[in-house]
Amino acid sequence: MRDFDEVARAIAGIPFMSPAQGRLVYEHVQRTDARDVLELGTAHGVGAAYMAAAGANVTTVDFAGAHYDPSPEETARRAGVELTVVREFSSYTWWLKTQVEERSDAHGNVTPAYDFVYLDGAKNWTIDGLAVILIEKLLRPGGWLLMDDLHWTYAQDPHRDATDGIVHRELSEPERTEPHLRAVFDLIVAQHPSFTELRREDEWWGWARKHPGAPRTYSVTTSRPLSALITNTARKAARKARRRVASLR
Ligand SMILES: C[S@@+](CC[C@H](N)C(=O)[O-])C[C@H]1O[C@@H](n2cnc3c(N)ncnc32)[C@H](O)[C@@H]1O
Repeated sequence: MRDFDEVARAIAGIPFMSPAQGRLVYEHVQRTDARDVLELGTAHGVGAAYMAAAGANVTTVDFAGAHYDPSPEETARRAGVELTVVREFSSYTWWLKTQVEERSDAHGNVTPAYDFVYLDGAKNWTIDGLAVILIEKLLRPGGWLLMDDLHWTYAQDPHRDATDGIVHRELSEPERTEPHLRAVFDLIVAQHPSFTELRREDEWWGWARKHPGAPRTYSVTTSRPLSALITNTARKAARKARRRVASLR
């Protein structure tokens, strides 16, 4: 285990996870005593480094063609931690398929492997809708799934077209303007019989605990001032109204 502040200093300035978010995942790993952690979407390896610094064995997966400077190996070196970095040909969904396959017996029982999974990759309904189903099989009972960027939309990030493997202009208007991960969280994760403790934090993070049989709870928490939340809600209402007007034309 490494001191959080020392690690934050050693990897300062490397995108994409902020030190504030890093502290949250670091503290989550420590508080829940998560031994085995999986991250989907590595980039420079900052999130992975924070989780490894908290004492977890971290496996992190990205596209084979993903090249970052500094590389996740270099980030890990600076942070003084070790990571297992997997670079797959096409998508982490295929890698998850191989993991489920390897851990399945002839009766369809899957031996889970992770205490915490951080999903921070495609932000796409089709890819991550499948990913969360496979993740649930690999999560140990009591383990947590964390999804980043619940509010992200294609419309707000057109330049991503060049790197995310999705041709944005082929998406319908609702697919461009509605947050895919919020739909994955609300309609797949929160309604899945295994995930019973759900929490949305600051609108961009979704936490889900695998605890089948427990009473379902879904809470919303924020660390932001109330005024920011009201502005966000007003913006969403305006977006909805614009869509309604457009559909009436
Ligand atoms: C926001 S970055 C990840 C940031 C990182 N988790 C951190 O904490 O710094 C998203 C990453 O997901 C990867 N990604 C997106 N879709 C993917 C997919 N279907 N399979 C594998 N990697 C994917 C991208 O290549 C990118 O490196």
